[in-house]
Amino acid sequence: MTYINQLKIYVDQEVTLKGWVYNNRSSKALQFIELRDGSGLCQCIVARDDVSDEVWDAADSLKQESSIEITGNVVKDDRSVGGYELHVSGLTVIQLAEDYPITPKEHGVEFLMENRHLWLRSRRQWAAMRVRNAIVFSIHKFFQEKEFLQLDAPIFTGNAAEGTTTLFETDYFDDKAYLTQSGQLYAEAMAMAHGKVYTFGPTFRAEKSKTRRHLTEFWMIEPEMAFYDLDMNMDLAEEMVKDIIRYVLDHCPKELEILERDTTQLKQAVENEFHRLSYTEAVDLLKSNETAALLDQMTEERKKEREQLKAELEELKKEHGSAKKWRKAQIDQRIQEIHARQDQIEEDLRNIPVWKQSASGFTWGNDFGGSDETILTMQFDAPLIVHRYPAEVKAFYMKRDPDNDNLALAMDVLAPEGYGEIIGGSQREDSLEVLQKRIADHDLPEDVFSWYLDLRRYGSVPHSGYGLGLERTLSWICGLSHVRETIPFPRMLGRLSP
Ligand code: 4AD
Ligand code: MG
Repeated sequence: MTYINQLKIYVDQEVTLKGWVYNNRSSKALQFIELRDGSGLCQCIVARDDVSDEVWDAADSLKQESSIEITGNVVKDDRSVGGYELHVSGLTVIQLAEDYPITPKEHGVEFLMENRHLWLRSRRQWAAMRVRNAIVFSIHKFFQEKEFLQLDAPIFTGNAAEGTTTLFETDYFDDKAYLTQSGQLYAEAMAMAHGKVYTFGPTFRAEKSKTRRHLTEFWMIEPEMAFYDLDMNMDLAEEMVKDIIRYVLDHCPKELEILERDTTQLKQAVENEFHRLSYTEAVDLLKSNETAALLDQMTEERKKEREQLKAELEELKKEHGSAKKWRKAQIDQRIQEIHARQDQIEEDLRNIPVWKQSASGFTWGNDFGGSDETILTMQFDAPLIVHRYPAEVKAFYMKRDPDNDNLALAMDVLAPEGYGEIIGGSQREDSLEVLQKRIADHDLPEDVFSWYLDLRRYGSVPHSGYGLGLERTLSWICGLSHVRETIPFPRMLGRLSP
């Protein structure tokens, strides 16, 4: 058996492929079967004069997603979907599919989500999952080459890592257990045993946020390093993100092309230094005249475009009724484009933050919202790292800035193009007394953290780490509009199946 992505080594030879009918069409003398086999797509051509009646009839009976075994000669053809074609001599049907629900026409997102188990076979989804795999591999490669150990944190836990409001509670033999929000606290223990470790696992947040960035179950990569301070932590995060992008650009050009990803900003992220701003500097930037001008300009441009599109849409709808078939298809295509652009415009306009209307502007001390992150990153030609946040908005375990006790030694990596936070991390509090006080201040039960406090009792050292959200990262790299397309079976508010 041969796979489609290996066809280049079989030119002018006969091969057998096994796969599924992605698409097919026929004329009197020829049938075209677009075959997918998991590794790629290949156009298979059945010529009436070249095959037996059986093969011709079998090909003629095919429906979308039928599974088949197909034999033929490999011919190089640059115009063909994968660069090679199969000139068919034999064909066996493995299973003749029933009418497939996902047809080449456009479907609504809810319908596709209900059929996620089948939607995964579609080309864009296929490409995104392959990039996901590449990112996962590149992360392991990156850390393994740096001699980090990958060790796993438990999923059932007795304590909250990131605040108690977003915990999923489960029954654990008449006791309470929570699904982990982060492997960090355990990673800290493992770092004290091994120096440099990373966890790679599912994490859970009972967040009632219905945004394009939130899942209730997502995968997080959490390195934790003994003797690293905040600067070393930021350096590592930057090096890792660059490495991931470089790997994807090198190994997934075809996938990015299928996703129609404009890679300009990805290349910039590899080439340029990530900008680093303290939270306070970032707030100043938000409140600056430059930002105000940028927002005004964007608002005006988008509103103008919105009017133009509305007018165009009305014209097209008028024309549609009496148009010829070929023109109707053109119009439908354009209407689809306009709808997509309209969604983007609304999204951009929603991104005008509320504080823009208030005289005082953004208030120091507030956490950044998605739109604030978007506006900040718009002003740079690479991802942005914001550090030293107000301690109030950050977790209990973060070390305070020795120069300003109101600030936590935290850092977030913000991706450009509206994707926002992909990494959150910090230097950890390493003093037993201070940490005990923080646990009390946060109203957390000290007994469940006693093991964690032991790490400060027995050889406490400065240490740091961060968490990279796999789905947010994939969403940005692939240029997807929603994290629901970044994981095989997304779990979100209101979505538990399939
Ligand atoms: O910023 P967060 O909450 O950080 C932590 O959990 C730390 N304990 C990590 C550490 O220092 N070891 O989450 C880290 C990242 C975010 O930057 C984001 O990429 C992702 O996890 N993330 C989510 N992704 C999808 N859906 C959600 N609901 C997410 N919440 C966080
Ligand atoms: Mg965060």
